[in-house]
Amino acid sequence: MAPPSVVPALSDTTLRERFEQLRKSFGVPFAVVDLGTGELNHVPAAWLPIDLDVALPVLEEIARRGRPAVVEDCAPLLVLAVPLLPDDDLPCSEVAVATFLTQAVADAEHLAAAAKAVRVELETLQHWALTQPIWPPHAVTQLSDSVCRRVSAEAENKKLRTQLTSVSQHLLQTFEELNLLHRINERLSLSMDDHQLLELAVEWLSEVLPAECLLACMFEASPTGIHQLPRQWIYTGECPLPIDELDQFLDRLGPDAKQSMVVLDQDETSSPTWYYSTVREVISVPIRTGNSVIGWLVAINHSPSARRQSNQFGTLETSLLSSVASMVGMHSGNVRLYNDQSTFFESVVRAFSSAIDAKDPYTCGHSERVARISVLIARQLKCSKEQLNSIYLAGLLHDIGKIGVDDHILRKPGELTLEEFEHIKQHPTLGYNILKGVRQLQHVLPVVLHHHEAWDGSGYPGGLVGEEIPWLARIVAVADSFDAMSSDRPYRAGMPAEKLNKIFHSARGQQWDARVIDAFFAVRDEIESVIHLDRKQLSLDVTEWNVIY
Ligand SMILES: [Fe+2]
Repeated sequence: MAPPSVVPALSDTTLRERFEQLRKSFGVPFAVVDLGTGELNHVPAAWLPIDLDVALPVLEEIARRGRPAVVEDCAPLLVLAVPLLPDDDLPCSEVAVATFLTQAVADAEHLAAAAKAVRVELETLQHWALTQPIWPPHAVTQLSDSVCRRVSAEAENKKLRTQLTSVSQHLLQTFEELNLLHRINERLSLSMDDHQLLELAVEWLSEVLPAECLLACMFEASPTGIHQLPRQWIYTGECPLPIDELDQFLDRLGPDAKQSMVVLDQDETSSPTWYYSTVREVISVPIRTGNSVIGWLVAINHSPSARRQSNQFGTLETSLLSSVASMVGMHSGNVRLYNDQSTFFESVVRAFSSAIDAKDPYTCGHSERVARISVLIARQLKCSKEQLNSIYLAGLLHDIGKIGVDDHILRKPGELTLEEFEHIKQHPTLGYNILKGVRQLQHVLPVVLHHHEAWDGSGYPGGLVGEEIPWLARIVAVADSFDAMSSDRPYRAGMPAEKLNKIFHSARGQQWDARVIDAFFAVRDEIESVIHLDRKQLSLDVTEWNVIY
């Protein structure tokens, strides 16, 4: 048997602290029994020995119950056992034991009986009893209960403090993550391209993610899933690899690295088979839109920050990178969807416009000219960006109702009969009905319906007067009339400029809004250029135009 230690060789700090509390509270020496070995591992001076062979089963039961208990009560001696409970739910394997003198020793015979009962030498007991205070038995058990409750309460407090620290740390990490995502989200816009998006993501990640290098790239996903190399990588910090080796580097992270998240720590990178000696830690996260991988965010080599002394990437870094990759992928997908929809919408508008021209080939290009002239006049009238875009669209589509007008009337040279004119007058209402179900074209409906109204109320279909006529419709009315009168027809030449100007001057404030006519004459030269020069196709967004003709 190994000799017992001078100080208790308890299994952890918590047990040592508990033993000390017990010893100080009672002021008497406690020995410690290791139930695993069945031996004493600490025997203080002035400790009255006990018969371990007899006591061990009782001590095991006391440890199992987890509460202090009397092992032997043999007046004037009382043996107390206190289980030293671990913090966690592990079984108790160490028990503190002490013997108390519970009454004054009346005579030698009484003491001899007690020595026999607890199986110690009489002489040892006599010597020990001389130095012992008298303890009322109930005081021993009450104090032991009290000490154990205090120890349990302190253990619970410690556990709660640990949990609180953990929750606080988690909250701090979550706050940092949410704060970063919020800051990135605030800056996102549909006009941001993939390159700008990645620059933003990498820049902001570098403020909160302690990595020596942060990298990102995105590309167009091809239908076959095969992507063209090289891709353009954006990075901050010092990249420990040549940039042109990054694609190969991703391949070496594992067979699934291009489709799934990869986290490598120093356990993996210290392996003799690891290829890149300058790379100690890696997190690689794919950027997805829908089911397609369209890029990656990569963090290489942890750089300990002032706040986090870890030298490895942890769950916070992994979570941050994943969240940002999700946001980047989602936004990029939205931008691509928006661009696809814009392209589709523009195609539909152009198709409508072409359909009008095809219906009436003599007026070919009329819709585009009216649209551009309307924009020129509207700019002169200081219309807003939204109004400019609306009036361009409205100009392209204002005669869409002619699709429903009989061809022979539409193409008839010369004067129309009254009946034919009544038929052709239906085209604004027909156009309105064609477009009214298209949500994206609601703002052009007033122009389509009212572009043939006259300021004095003599127009159609509503016979609206003055400012009852929608503002943009008054502008398109001037542009429409100008193009109709100035364009050549197979059966007549376009009206000379002088005559045309005279008509517009004389009908100012009667047929047309005076303010619109003034604006028309202010941009008269530019309008002439629109009519006579070759035209390139323009964007539906007027703010993107450099020239109008
Ligand atoms: Fe018209």
